[in-house]
Amino acid sequence: MKNLVGGNWKLNNSMQEILMAERCFNFTLKNTECFVGVPYIYIEECLRRFPKNIRVAAQNFSEYENGAYTGEVSIVQLKEFGVNLSILGHSERRQIFNESDATINNKLKIAMKYGVEPVLCLGEPHNYRKRGDYIDYLENQYTNSIGEIRNTTLDIAYEPVWAIGNDVTPEEHEIEEVHKKIFDWNKKNRISGRIIYGGSVNKSNAFRLSKIQGLDGFLVGNASLDEDFVQIATVFEK
Ligand code: PGA
Repeated sequence: MKNLVGGNWKLNNSMQEILMAERCFNFTLKNTECFVGVPYIYIEECLRRFPKNIRVAAQNFSEYENGAYTGEVSIVQLKEFGVNLSILGHSERRQIFNESDATINNKLKIAMKYGVEPVLCLGEPHNYRKRGDYIDYLENQYTNSIGEIRNTTLDIAYEPVWAIGNDVTPEEHEIEEVHKKIFDWNKKNRISGRIIYGGSVNKSNAFRLSKIQGLDGFLVGNASLDEDFVQIATVFEK
């Protein structure tokens, strides 16, 4: 299986940066699958401009297929525009927009129904890490997010909330420990897929982090907003 490196633009970037990204995305990848999660409104433009080795992903989608849900975008609509990959359950969705594990499970089921590949995000807040019961928290989040889902391929991003957007990265052994746990939970549930890490990955730490046992790629926020992303996206090619 190839490594997976995704960019998450969040609520950033405009046409100007899309043109810049188009110019930067001229690298080749052999061992890596690369995607960029862009705001909905730019999906069509990015699909038109980015080379085929950069997949254009959504950052989120509705738990409903259609209906009276003002402001939502459905998986059916994303598929119509050629999107078959989406970030799911990012901690900002969970914390700021109150998405529960049950909502994320509904979204996961809908993604699977329509053949859209989700990248399911999991991660503990800082107080759980500090108290030491972060593995219980993560297991609970994992169990409730996957619900009844078994026998499938699902990519998972481990993103400790306390490491997102602040230049704090966990120690390598801390990342390795959680990846190993997720691997074990996946095995129990007959789920296979890549386990990637996200949280303050940048061009200076990407190579070091890429060597962590059981780490299959990265989800990158801030450093995906400029040309630094090229160095991170190609780090598994070295
Ligand atoms: P960051 O964000 O790389 O800016 O820490 C990661 C993410 O939120 O996916």
